[in-house]
Amino acid sequence: MKFFIDTANLAQIKEAQDLGILDGVTTNPSLMAKEGITGKENIIKHYLAICNIVDGPVSAEVIATDFAGMVKEGEELAKLHKNIVVKVPMIKEGIKAISYFSKKGIKTNCTLVFSAGQALLAAKAGATYVSPFLGRLDDISSDGMRLIEDIRVIYDNYMYETQILAASIRHTMHILKCAEIGADVMTGPLSSINGLFNHPLTDSGLKQFLADYQKGN
Ligand code: G3P
Repeated sequence: MKFFIDTANLAQIKEAQDLGILDGVTTNPSLMAKEGITGKENIIKHYLAICNIVDGPVSAEVIATDFAGMVKEGEELAKLHKNIVVKVPMIKEGIKAISYFSKKGIKTNCTLVFSAGQALLAAKAGATYVSPFLGRLDDISSDGMRLIEDIRVIYDNYMYETQILAASIRHTMHILKCAEIGADVMTGPLSSINGLFNHPLTDSGLKQFLADYQKGN
C-alpha cells in the first residue's frame, strides 16, 4: 500500500518524508489556503517546493471547471515537474479532460468521488488515480469504507489499472481497513500516519529493556 500525505504543509511533508515511508503527496485548494498559499504564482512555487522534498507523485488540482480551461491548466501543471499528477474534479467536463490527459500520457487523479458509478467513469476515462472521499461519507452517516470495497470489486472485475487512492482519511483505522480491502494508496494527514506507531506494549516493553540494560552496566 502506498502512503501519501494529504497536506500542503512543508514541515509535515518533510517530517513524513524523513520517516522513509512516504510515497507521494496530495493537495487541494483548501489545503493550500490553510497554509496561506494564494495566487497562481505562489501556488506553483509551492508545488515545486513539495516536489523538491518528495520524489513521488504530487497531486496538483485544476481550478477551471470547463474542458478547455482544465486542459490548459492541467498541461501547465504537468509541465512543472515530472511528478505532478493533475487533479481533476468528478464532473462531466472533468471526465472529458481526464480522457484527454490519459491519451496524452499525463497522469491524473479524479477527485471528489463519492459513488462507485463515478469511480467506474473515472476508470473508463483512464484516470491514473481515483479519490473516493471516505471520511466525508462517514461524516454524513454513509459508509465510506463500503465505497472502497465496491470500487475494489468493480476494478478487479475488469482489471482496470486506475489506482484506488483512499482519500479523506481521518485516522488509523481508516488506513488499516483500506489496507485490508486492498486500496492501492491512502492519503491522510500526518496524525493518521503517526497514529500507526502507537502501542502501549511497545512503550512499556522498551522501557523495561532499557531499565534491564542499565542494571547490567
Ligand atoms: O484528499 C482529500 C482530502 O483532502 C479531503 O479530506 O478531511 O477535507 O475530508 P477532508
